[in-house]
Amino acid sequence: MAKIKILQKPCQKDAAKRPAVERVLANRKTPEILKEFAKGRYFYIRTYGCQGNVRDEEVMAGFLTEAGFTRTEDASLADVAIINTCAVRENAEDKIYGEIGNFKANKKKNPDFMLVLAGCVMGEDGIGEKLIETYPFISLVIGTHDVAKINDLLAEVIKERKSIINVHSFSSEIVENLPSVRLDNNQAFVNISYGCDKFCTYCIVPFTRGRERSRHLDDIVAECKKLVEEGYKQITLLGQNVNSYGLDLKDGTDFAKLLSAVAETGIPRLRFLTSYPSQFSDEMIDVMAKYENIDHWLHFPVQSGSSSCLRRMARRYTREEYLERANKIKEKMPDIALTTDIIVGFPGETEEEFLDTLSLAKEVGYSSCFTFIYSPRPGTPAANMEQVPPEVSHERFNRLKSLVDDLTAAHSDTMIGNIYEVLVEGPSKRDPNVLSGYARNGKLVNFNGPAYLTGCFVKVKVLESHVYSLRGEMVEDPLVEKARDVVFHMSHDRLLKEYSRLNGEILNDPEIKDMGERLALSKKELALSMGKEDHKEKKASYEELLNKIQNHPLLLNRDSLHEAVEAELLEIRDILK
Ligand code: SAH
Ligand code: SF4
Ligand code: F3S
Repeated sequence: MAKIKILQKPCQKDAAKRPAVERVLANRKTPEILKEFAKGRYFYIRTYGCQGNVRDEEVMAGFLTEAGFTRTEDASLADVAIINTCAVRENAEDKIYGEIGNFKANKKKNPDFMLVLAGCVMGEDGIGEKLIETYPFISLVIGTHDVAKINDLLAEVIKERKSIINVHSFSSEIVENLPSVRLDNNQAFVNISYGCDKFCTYCIVPFTRGRERSRHLDDIVAECKKLVEEGYKQITLLGQNVNSYGLDLKDGTDFAKLLSAVAETGIPRLRFLTSYPSQFSDEMIDVMAKYENIDHWLHFPVQSGSSSCLRRMARRYTREEYLERANKIKEKMPDIALTTDIIVGFPGETEEEFLDTLSLAKEVGYSSCFTFIYSPRPGTPAANMEQVPPEVSHERFNRLKSLVDDLTAAHSDTMIGNIYEVLVEGPSKRDPNVLSGYARNGKLVNFNGPAYLTGCFVKVKVLESHVYSLRGEMVEDPLVEKARDVVFHMSHDRLLKEYSRLNGEILNDPEIKDMGERLALSKKELALSMGKEDHKEKKASYEELLNKIQNHPLLLNRDSLHEAVEAELLEIRDILK
């Protein structure tokens, strides 16, 4: 039997509590015992679920890296392994059991091995004890509200030699100053709020992530500005319901204001997930249409096209209200690509309700859809409603899937012959000569090109549609595109920016300009005085002027950066080679 120490166990009922929320700074001091343990050791993280979980992975990776661990992608080498779980549907949850079993070998090989279970599944009542009893080599069960405590909790496991459970079901904190090791150098996820207040009757998320809490606008904008300075090209703002962002702060902040402020940072591509249709205001549509760097791609989950089904789901809009918002968005941005989530087989769904969903999908003309068969989640109201027989759900799912394929194909066909800006993710897994990336409308585009274009914006002409991806060809010379990328990075580089700012100041300074003119004159006089009596005098006055210019504080300031700038440019030259 494993020894278990319970510091905090989850209570799904408590998740609905709304305590006063306080902004706090993360404790970044690693306990000595963990620092000692981490020397020469590796961590591994496997994440399931949504971008919220991906962001938690980045934060946990940040803490473990600060403790002194090195990351490994080879699970068998891990001294600390984290399985970051998702509870949104039953099949997502099932995946973790096989994954846990794989780590038995790590424990056998290395008695110090620690397996950590994190993520949304850990918020379910009693799950931690059950898991540790079956798999005694689980060292830590940590909740989504507790990721910032990972280092303290690992230190506690080492000290106590017991398995620890620490899962809070609600949080009274917004933690800032979090360390993070981002998974991508070009695109970044930025949390704007945590949790969800909507309590749709099918959904587990409010129970695993707690009530909605917004980060302060200044904290979010500062994080985005830093990403821009670091040369990131795309930011995705994250929240379970981005449109209600800021309302809990009660200081007049809202999503429209935040979206403008982030667009103003100059990030080349800005997008956000997930929108709640009835809270997508006219003002938000206007902001989206106004800024060129906000993508014309919107994930706009409808869940069902039937007002009666939406009511049972506790979605706070009708079919008509949804269509009104979608049409307004299309009117303001005719090139918008709308995507959606649809659940089939929701409790009590009739054939008529399902047909309403099909007709709505057709009417909106989605560019692509995520479709799910309803999965009962423990503790949610819909789990106790009258269930639709699985064979009915499957049959409807197949009918929906076939419509979705047609809609996706129709949208993809409209792209043929047009040129799109693609942010290159890298060579495709199947063929190293083929690059893959996303256009601004969220569609995947493949084309032949050199690997050095990874992370660059590239113009691609779409030639053919493969429905879920498109095939195209580059419009410009790859070297020209790469050179543009180098210019982009240089224009965002803090050192180069400062160097050119100082240079600009020198060029515009009237005193230096005047001295420059006098120096040119004096040089001429010096040349004319060659072999004449006043040559010595002219030489002295020329040198005095030259000395004065060279020692001007503005020039000295710029020249002090010279060496560092030169080193950086040489480094860029080497990369380009
Ligand atoms: N906050 C987001 C997404 C949350 S989960 C939103 O409101 O859209 C992502 C998607 O999973 C949901 O949009 C929904 O379509 C699906 N989903 C959530 N719970 C589900 C369940 N119990 N069964 C099937 N699909 C579900
Ligand atoms: Fe779940 Fe609804 Fe909240 Fe989305 S809005 S996370 S579906 S409760
Ligand atoms: Fe899954 Fe939790 Fe996200 S349940 S979808 S990982 S919020």
